[in-house]
Amino acid sequence: MSIEDLESIALAMVAPGKGIIAIDESTKTIAKRFEAVGIENSEENRRAYRELLLTTPGLNEHISGAILYDETIRQKTRDGVPFTEVMKKAGIIPGIKVDKGPVPLAGFPGDVVTEGLDGLRPRLEEYARLGAQFAKWRAVINITEDNPSSTAIEANCHALARYAALCQEAGLVPMVEPEVIMDGDHTIEVSYEVHEAVLRSLFNALYEQNVMLEGTILKSSMVIPGKACDEQASVEEVAEATVRVLKTCVPASLPGIVFLSGGQTDEQSTSHLNAMNRMGPHPWPLSFSYGRAMQQAALKLWSKDMKANYADAQKTVHARAKDNGLAALGQWNG
Ligand code: 13P
Repeated sequence: MSIEDLESIALAMVAPGKGIIAIDESTKTIAKRFEAVGIENSEENRRAYRELLLTTPGLNEHISGAILYDETIRQKTRDGVPFTEVMKKAGIIPGIKVDKGPVPLAGFPGDVVTEGLDGLRPRLEEYARLGAQFAKWRAVINITEDNPSSTAIEANCHALARYAALCQEAGLVPMVEPEVIMDGDHTIEVSYEVHEAVLRSLFNALYEQNVMLEGTILKSSMVIPGKACDEQASVEEVAEATVRVLKTCVPASLPGIVFLSGGQTDEQSTSHLNAMNRMGPHPWPLSFSYGRAMQQAALKLWSKDMKANYADAQKTVHARAKDNGLAALGQWNG
């Protein structure tokens, strides 16, 4: 696949007023989400829930793509239609999470590094055959008094760049996701410094590994104080700091940047994105790739009565997609 093909997929992922729905929770992570609302973590419940999300009427009005998990990309609707077919018909680009999650980084207590590079080439080839057009890899950066070490930043960015190069070889757009975690009592200034160090290291590593930025999407966290910090920031402060660090570190040749919600409330995730876009124009489209902030309200509703609330849960997903789509244009009015 040529760089032009990768670039056109990347641009479609951040088409004006559209964003991504992340439904790529691993079986372990979805277990936590299901447990919180009293749903049994069976394969059928996971399949039924992902069907609910992917078949939301009108989802494609505001959603350009969806990130799936290994199990999900192989699943079908109740009527036997592969999810990837449903998505393609609706013009929703299939994506796939390909990392194998974070493990402790030896020698650096509190730091983690994401695994999954071994055997990645054939896995990517298989995902491409199954219909995926982009792939996601998440690196986790923890903030404490002693973390992150520069070794952890480098190890994670090196892995992100290796994965990104392999994706482009397989004809998939890499969505590179360094997530700076919101847990902790750090200030917004510390969050800014860590984002700056991580993004500088990431774009350096992408350059070293010959990754073509024109066919790459960045999935970023926002510059935000730790959840336990006494001094929380206003919507404008978060938006201003996030845009500033991105402008400092991210080349303009990147087709787009999407954000994760990372534990923000629905309202916060939408208003931060909206505020950033109101500060535009920026060198790249700024949109969303939310997991929890797209799903949590719908999951709660569905859990109360899977049959009776099915349509209303889908309406809730659509409403979240609509709000975030408007925020991606800076046109959300609360
Ligand atoms: P959240 O929006 O729930 O952080 O999930 C997005 C995601 O894909 C994290 O990897």
